[in-house]
Formats: sequence, C-alpha cells, structure tokens
Amino acid sequence: MVSIGELRRQQSSYFLRTMQCFRSAAVILAACYAFFFLSRLLRGDGYSGVLLDSDVQSFGGATSALGRRIVKRIDGKASGMPWKLVDWGNPLSSEEESTFTCTMTSFVSFASGETAQICVHEEDGVSDTIKKTGRLTHCNILPVIWNDSTQDKTDESLYYVEIGANIGSCVMEMLLGTKARIIAFEPHPMNLYNIKKTVSQLDKSYQDRLMLFPIGLGGESTTSKIYSATGNMGNSVIGKIIKDRPSQKFEEKNQFPVYVERLDSILNSERIKVGLMKMDAQGFECNILEGMGRELAECIDVLKFEHTLRWLSEQGCTDLLPRLSDYSFDLYRDYNGGKFGGLVNISVGLPCKFCELFAKRKSSN
Ligand SMILES: *[C@@H]1O[C@H](CO)[C@@H](O)[C@H](O)[C@H]1NC(C)=O
Ligand SMILES: *[C@@H]1O[C@H](CO)[C@@H](O)[C@H](O)[C@H]1NC(C)=O
Repeated sequence: MVSIGELRRQQSSYFLRTMQCFRSAAVILAACYAFFFLSRLLRGDGYSGVLLDSDVQSFGGATSALGRRIVKRIDGKASGMPWKLVDWGNPLSSEEESTFTCTMTSFVSFASGETAQICVHEEDGVSDTIKKTGRLTHCNILPVIWNDSTQDKTDESLYYVEIGANIGSCVMEMLLGTKARIIAFEPHPMNLYNIKKTVSQLDKSYQDRLMLFPIGLGGESTTSKIYSATGNMGNSVIGKIIKDRPSQKFEEKNQFPVYVERLDSILNSERIKVGLMKMDAQGFECNILEGMGRELAECIDVLKFEHTLRWLSEQGCTDLLPRLSDYSFDLYRDYNGGKFGGLVNISVGLPCKFCELFAKRKSSN
C-alpha cells in the first residue's frame, strides 16, 4: 500500500518533472524562434524561400555570394517560373544536349593572352569573328577598365555584371583576362547552351567565379518570347522582331520562350558592388533600368552599353540617356589611358545611330 503522503510526494514530483519538461520545451522553442528571427534579419530582404546548406553547396562559386547575400535568390520559385541558376556540377540537361549543337574554337584573351576553347554557333556573325580572330574586339576594353579601376579587387563584394551575355565572348575575356567575380544574364536557350558548353570545359577555379542566370532582365517578372535573326544570334530581341536590314529573316526555329525578372529582385543592393557592368539588350535597356531601380544603380561604378537608336525607339526606349543621367551617371564616348573622354551633353543628344558608350558614376564631391 502507498500512503497518502507518499502519493502526494509522487504527484508533486510528477508535477515538477512535467513543469521542467514544459520549461525546457519553451526554452528550445524560444531558441528556435530567435534563430529564425536572427537568420531572417541577417539574410536581408527579399529572399522568399529558406536556403538550405545543401542548395548552396551545389552551386560552386555561387556559394560564397549566397553566403554573403550578394544575390537574393537563385531560382524562379518566388515568381512561379522554372528557371534556376546554372549549376556547374550539372550544367546541361539531356534535352539541351539533344536539341542544340555548337562548334569548339580557340579563344585568346586580349588582356592576358591566355587561351581556352569556346563553343560558337554554326551560322552567326559573332561566332565567325571569334573563329577568325580568336576574340571579339568590343570586349577588349572591359579588362582594361577593370584593371585600371582603383576599387579594391580583393573585396569579395566586388563584381563584374553582364546583361545579355550572348555566347559568352566578354565573359570569357573577363574570366581569362582578370580575376573578377562575374554575374552574367542570358535568356536565349541557344546562347546559354554555348556558354554552358564552354564553361563546363574550364577549370573549376573559373567556374567558381561565374554565376550564370538563364534569364532576361526587364521591368517586371514575366514570361516572354525571344526572336533571333537567322545568321545573327546577336540580334536576339525580347518581345518583338527588329531587323538589322530589311532582308533579314527570323525563322520559327529560332524563337523561344524566355523568363524575365527585375534585376533588383536578384541582386542585393545592400551588399553588392558592381565595379563594371556591360549591358547589351537590343532596345530592352529602359526596361532593364526600370527593374534595376535607383538603389541598385547606385551600386554600379561603370556601365558600358550600346546606343542603338533604332532598337531603342522600336522598344519605346527614347530616353535612355536622361534616365542614366537621372541615376547619377555621367556619359562618355570613349575611354583612353585610364580616363573617360568625350562627355555627352544630354540636352544636345548624340550624333550617332549606333555607338558604344560609357556611363560613369558621378564623383560624389
Ligand atoms: C593592370 O594595371 C597595371 C598598373 O596598374 C599594369 O601594370 C598592368 O599591365 C595592367 N594589366 C592589364 C592586363 O591591363
Ligand atoms: C549642353 O548643351 C546646352 C545646349 O546647347 C548648353 O546650353 C549647355 O551649356 C551644355 N552643357 C554643358 C555642360 O556643356
């Protein structure tokens, strides 16, 4: 028999143990809550999903950028689109392998003289130039500007960003000619195939420096169509057909759905420093600037872009230069001996129908 006193003691010790149990559960719960709250805080704004270590590890060079929250997201989940940052551990699907082809040719870096194989299109102006000369002239200036810049190259937040990477000619120049960390955007599946083929054959140390987003950039998150000229993949236009010349053909086999996102939904303006950006978007530039937003624009030191009057007007982008000026850039016609020259007077406009320009952040003094 258990005495009443014994029973009371047992009951009260049960009560105490239960209370202790609740208390430790509450401590664990509070700790969990604090952890999630803190990690949200540290993660910064914008990232919609929880990023797992296993996600991060499979993306090579992206790992450290994600760790430092240079990029806000690596897939289209938040916008309901199926795109994903290219994983250099597994860059090409079997469908891509069976749908596309490209031809390997030698690429020679202007800045370093280093060579590597680059995969080019069969029938395409840019590709033909690389086959003949080993590189694309308009990329030559990029490593020079990068090298001349006084920004701290060891700063892990410092990036070269390329919008409209085409088959990756300038990405290759920057990979081989500098040590820059690179973020590149290209929406066209045929061009993406080439870049992926090229980079998948490079040493891992190069792959780790390149984050390749298989998307176009614009003013809103959307699915669109990209049209490419037969024989000039460089004239690939989002949303409509714009011809280089009247006889140019746009075949159905060169039309693909593409995914478009705002740049400020991908890059984190609180963390990234864009030492140099190249933008080549065939008239889509105003949309890109809109999706970039002022805060991210302020992270950019130098922007190299093309001013292609007809493409710009066909896409309704008639105020590209004032927009850049409004984002606190000075505009220049050339770059020589470490200096920008030929300041463009916005109120006068430009005499050229097709020219390469530089936007340089106004010095703050
Ligand atoms: C980079 O700049 C240094 C001087 O700051 C110069 O000596 C070197 O040749 C440059 N390299 C390239 C690839 O332009
Ligand atoms: C730009 O051009 C306008 C019109 O010709 C002129 O009044 C203005 O002084 C120029 N600005 C600069 C900075 O040269």
